[in-house]
Amino acid sequence: MNSAPRKTFKNPRAQHDFRSRTGSIVAVGSYVPARVLTNADLEKMVETSNEWIITRTGIRERHIARPDETTSDMAAEAARRAMAQARVKPEQIDLILVATVTPDMLFPSTACLVQEKIGARRAAAFDIEAACSGFIYGLEVGQQFIMSQSCDTVLVIGAEKLSSIVDWTDRNTCVLFGDGAGAAILQNRPGSHGLLTVHLGADGSKGSVLCVPSGGSRNPASAKTVAAREHFIRMDGKETFRNAVQAMHAAAIEVLRRCELDISQIQCVIPHQANRRIIDAVGERLGVRPDQLFVNLDRIGNTSAASVAIALDEAVAQGRIRQGDLVLLTVFGGGFTWGAAVIEW
Ligand code: ACO
Repeated sequence: MNSAPRKTFKNPRAQHDFRSRTGSIVAVGSYVPARVLTNADLEKMVETSNEWIITRTGIRERHIARPDETTSDMAAEAARRAMAQARVKPEQIDLILVATVTPDMLFPSTACLVQEKIGARRAAAFDIEAACSGFIYGLEVGQQFIMSQSCDTVLVIGAEKLSSIVDWTDRNTCVLFGDGAGAAILQNRPGSHGLLTVHLGADGSKGSVLCVPSGGSRNPASAKTVAAREHFIRMDGKETFRNAVQAMHAAAIEVLRRCELDISQIQCVIPHQANRRIIDAVGERLGVRPDQLFVNLDRIGNTSAASVAIALDEAVAQGRIRQGDLVLLTVFGGGFTWGAAVIEW
């Protein structure tokens, strides 16, 4: 009888995890709002063209939340879908982590609002702010709670209502972003390697390159800050682009090195869905084949912390990731922040 060849990758965690507990992603789920905003719609709003947006970004359309639909609503729906997949009941969840830069309000945290919406009364809850890198930051934080035996079941969500902080008069940014949420259930699953390794990084000296300048304690909201449109995303696109390519590539190389893997051994590569040219530049540097790469940017746009979470769920649903496959995630976002992970599915 033919048996599958034994994989020869290394799990760096195995040497450090004295109780052999790891965080495995036992299920994923995602949600995007029904309303679709096309490039043709944007042509009516700002001086742009479908052709410019497609050639410079690769984006054709994005989903936009209803005015009354909040980040926590989308997060809760993605969570319900992941919980249904995992057959996890609300009361089994020990911890809820929500990665977002568009919380419903400054406080309480969006994670607390999600806890109420899904009825996870036993769960502790807090938000993680690492911009577009937030979901991978969340996976690592959740994994640490499982490894330390503090938690058995952790719900990690990336969720954004970026339409609420996009300046719809700024053509440099408004064509890029969309709304949505993705969720993962982490548990210690014996016999599964789960998250083999996660690498995280940050460079706070570049914070002003991509930010929302006002609305925090430095520049509290005032008539002046509103008039100056300082509650919307400000971005130096070229600087962001350059740093994103370099950091996503370096982070991916680091996790491959730790697992003693070659890129050719990875079945599915999911980069942060920010810009097709960033994805292609990172893919080219890593030597990724087209059949390894997963891209949904054309339909979803850049959903920041939700980006790789939604893509992961879609890749699983489409059969692009199967049990035993190795998955590489690599991300970059405001802060700057970045990260990469290798997952054994
Ligand atoms: N439609 C038409 N023209 C436009 C548009 C638009 N939507 N936006 C900009 N332009 C114009 C500019 O005004 C400029 O015109 P000018 O030469 O007359 O001044 C021209 O197009 C070229 O602009 P560039 O900024 O040079 O265009 P570039 O090729 O750099 O593309 C872009 C801009 C798409 C924003 C690119 O820099 C980019 O993708 N950067 C990274 C953005 C990103 O990924 N951000 C998020 C990552 S982190 C996170 O997710 C929060």
